[in-house]
Amino acid sequence: MIQFGSLKGKTIAITGASRGIGRETADLLGTLGANLILGSRNEIGLAKLATRVEAVGGRALPVYLDVTDEGSVRNFADVAINEFGTVDVLINSAGIGTFASLLDLPTADFDEMISVNLKGTFLACKYFGPQMVQQGHGQILNIVSIAGTVALPGGGGYSASKFGVLGLTRVLQQELRSEGVQVTAVLPGAVNSSFWDGIDPKPDVSSMMPTSTLARHIVYLLSAHDGTFIDEITIMPPLGIL
Ligand SMILES: NC(=O)c1ccc[n+]([C@@H]2O[C@H](COP(=O)([O-])OP(=O)(O)OC[C@H]3O[C@@H](n4cnc5c(N)ncnc54)[C@H](OP(=O)(O)O)[C@@H]3O)[C@@H](O)[C@H]2O)c1
Repeated sequence: MIQFGSLKGKTIAITGASRGIGRETADLLGTLGANLILGSRNEIGLAKLATRVEAVGGRALPVYLDVTDEGSVRNFADVAINEFGTVDVLINSAGIGTFASLLDLPTADFDEMISVNLKGTFLACKYFGPQMVQQGHGQILNIVSIAGTVALPGGGGYSASKFGVLGLTRVLQQELRSEGVQVTAVLPGAVNSSFWDGIDPKPDVSSMMPTSTLARHIVYLLSAHDGTFIDEITIMPPLGIL
């Protein structure tokens, strides 16, 4: 039996909270009474989200965050810990993708994907992890992608970053398991979010999963934390498209 009420008062930090999966998850967690620390570079978007969360009974703290900047990530974690005392959950949802065959992929795009997706996830784990170890409990959800396990022509840079995130996540699972900290790799197939807005040509998003589906699965993962550890979960749209 899922106890959604059990998330009331839990402190949950979300990177990439201004749009897409992160924002939808924050909106849902707000209705469940969670304390949210919301991070992204879009402070106006975060402020609007925080207002919505507070209106439905949650608490929300919007914090400027650039996951590629170590000082910014350290500050994000410090603000969360100072404000709420504990951090129960970290959701790493900040991510970007650009698509081109590897021979055509601009080096700057490759660097940026590695920086946001891989280094950003590393930094957030690095600065929230010690607090969770000290508490003796915590959950880290890394939003990877199915592209972290399969080769997608045209998605080489994105896949490289996400294979990296999956590797990092699996190691962290082993390192933190005995500390009571659950680290989960979430591998979605295609999700209809703003992720695809800048992609030319824009793919058909009509059969992708809605962000609300992902948000519900994430909340389920957090609510089902009953002593068993969920290491990895793949969530696919009905047609199995990527
Ligand atoms: N959409 C999909 O089909 C899909 C499928 C599988 C996995 N995923 C993964 O799921 C995660 C969320 O994707 P989404 O679909 O929600 O994408 P989205 O709608 O484009 O949202 C991406 C979020 O990442 C944030 N972000 C980007 N660069 C950042 C930076 N340097 N520092 C802090 N935040 C940053 C953005 O905020 P700002 O721009 O405001 O900073 C935004 O809130 C990503 O890791 C993505 O790779 C997506």
